[in-house]
Amino acid sequence: MNKIKILSVFGTRPEAIKMAPLVKHLASLPEFDSRCCLTGQHREMLDSVMDIFQLKGDYDLNIMQARQTLSSITTKTLLGMDEVLEDAKPDLVLVHGDTSTTFAGALAAFYHKVPVGHVEAGLRTWDKYSPYPEEMNRTLVGRIAELHFCPTVNNLRNLEQEAVPGAKFITGNTVIDAMKTTVRPDFVFSVPELNELDFRNHRVIAVTCHRRENYGEPMREIMEAIRELALSHPEIEVVYPVHLSPVVRECVFGILRDVPRVHLIDPIDVENMHNLMARCHFVMTDSGGLQEEAPALGKPVLVLRRETERPEAVQAGTVKLAGVRKQDILALAEELLTDEASYHRMAQAVNPYGDGNACERIAQAILWHFGRIAEKPADFGA
Ligand code: UD1
Ligand code: UDP
Repeated sequence: MNKIKILSVFGTRPEAIKMAPLVKHLASLPEFDSRCCLTGQHREMLDSVMDIFQLKGDYDLNIMQARQTLSSITTKTLLGMDEVLEDAKPDLVLVHGDTSTTFAGALAAFYHKVPVGHVEAGLRTWDKYSPYPEEMNRTLVGRIAELHFCPTVNNLRNLEQEAVPGAKFITGNTVIDAMKTTVRPDFVFSVPELNELDFRNHRVIAVTCHRRENYGEPMREIMEAIRELALSHPEIEVVYPVHLSPVVRECVFGILRDVPRVHLIDPIDVENMHNLMARCHFVMTDSGGLQEEAPALGKPVLVLRRETERPEAVQAGTVKLAGVRKQDILALAEELLTDEASYHRMAQAVNPYGDGNACERIAQAILWHFGRIAEKPADFGA
């Protein structure tokens, strides 16, 4: 029987981290011919993930430009994908999440009448400008896709509420699959700055912040809050791997450079990042992925945003929405540092996002879709 030809399209750090275990799993199964098309929307941050998971792209559009615009990412990907799709002739294109690569990759497949499978489908805030442009990207991909791989039941209900057509599966999030290989109790950091952190005597707070809707005033308020927190708490150290976006770096270094016990470092690879989170006291972030990873590691998270498309860990109590105002962020961080009961309530290991078998469920779902197996796979949590 012919192999099912899968083309996975991704281009940013979080897509790569969450697609890597799936791409590897598909490649290990005899029913699939699995190839990758990298857009290169991120260059260094993408290559770092590919190195850690020992993956290579079969195609690389290499589109990244400094301070790139949404239009440039979308149009370059669309144009580049024409040739790739002609050459690869896939039976199914897989895209992940909600970036501009995701949207343009799905749209290019649609233009070539190739069906699309959407990994991490159904996340919603119902506010098209927050997160921007991600909420619109994932909504549009939802209309294009034939197969929807939802991490949670809540994500599936969102798609049902929108009456999105196509087959829907609850799979868990592939990031939990990725963490099975990255988090190790005996892991030794390969980044000198991480080895210099005093985990024994200090409380280490891990920070990341990069979202476009936080550019400008919100990001300045967030950085001011971190500055004040570090200055008023000699027992803490802040470690912040700063995203390579020049807009982000100007703001972060402008406010936090030279603040005592605040370590601004370059992005670190995913193994160092996951093991840093496993050892830190708590996490402050506007990232999507960290909101899924930190709860699995039993670490409280303060989300530096006004909303979240990941309400599951908020409901479980390990994540709090801190907003983007300095005083609100400070108040919640102070509480975590001074109120032990409050800290312990948040520091429970909960894992609403998966059991580490999402990739297997997605592979089974694809086999079922192509009529290779009779049974639809059981949902995560069923
Ligand atoms: C993108 C995604 C966002 C995702 C984030 C993950 C869009 C519109 N946004 O946002 O959904 O949460 O990735 O990090 O798709 N840069 C480098 N090297 C790199 C990566 C980025 O220099 O390896 C710089 C470039 O100057 C680039 C800028 O960062 O122009 C911004 O990158 P871009 O992908 O446009 O936006 P992100 O904020 O990274
Ligand atoms: N991450 C990483 N190195 C870093 C910062 C983050 O490997 O220096 C990982 C993090 O653990 C998570 C992913 O990158 O798996 C999140 O990516 P990002 O915050 O860029 O995007 P988002 O999740 O917000 O879309």
